[in-house]
Amino acid sequence: MAISFAKDIKPLFTPTDQTHMEFMLDLWSYDDVKENAEGILDSVSNGRMPPDNPWAADKVDIFKRWIQDGCQP
Ligand code: HEM
Repeated sequence: MAISFAKDIKPLFTPTDQTHMEFMLDLWSYDDVKENAEGILDSVSNGRMPPDNPWAADKVDIFKRWIQDGCQP
């Protein structure tokens, strides 16, 4: 089954993540995350984001597959 933003991706972003990144983009907005998907993948892959709390490999993998599947809503 295709990975969806609402079901699989949005829950990866905590309220803290969403609040702290609002100065730049809304991590709970499908349009914002789709538009910045490559940059977000970059930042969670190299552990730069979220600061001090890097994503486990399985979370990064889900995000990567969401992009490969064409960023389904
Ligand atoms: C395009 C991708 C991103 C860019 C360019 C970016 C950039 C930044 C910058 C410049 C800051 C403020 C300075 C800093 O604390 O380093 C920040 C803070 C933060 N970002 Fe991101 N970010 C991105 C994606 C994300 C993602 C995907 C998450 C969560 C999964 C995230 C979570 C956070 C959090 C929690 C903070 C606050 C850190 C703190 O104040 O302790 N960011 N980000």
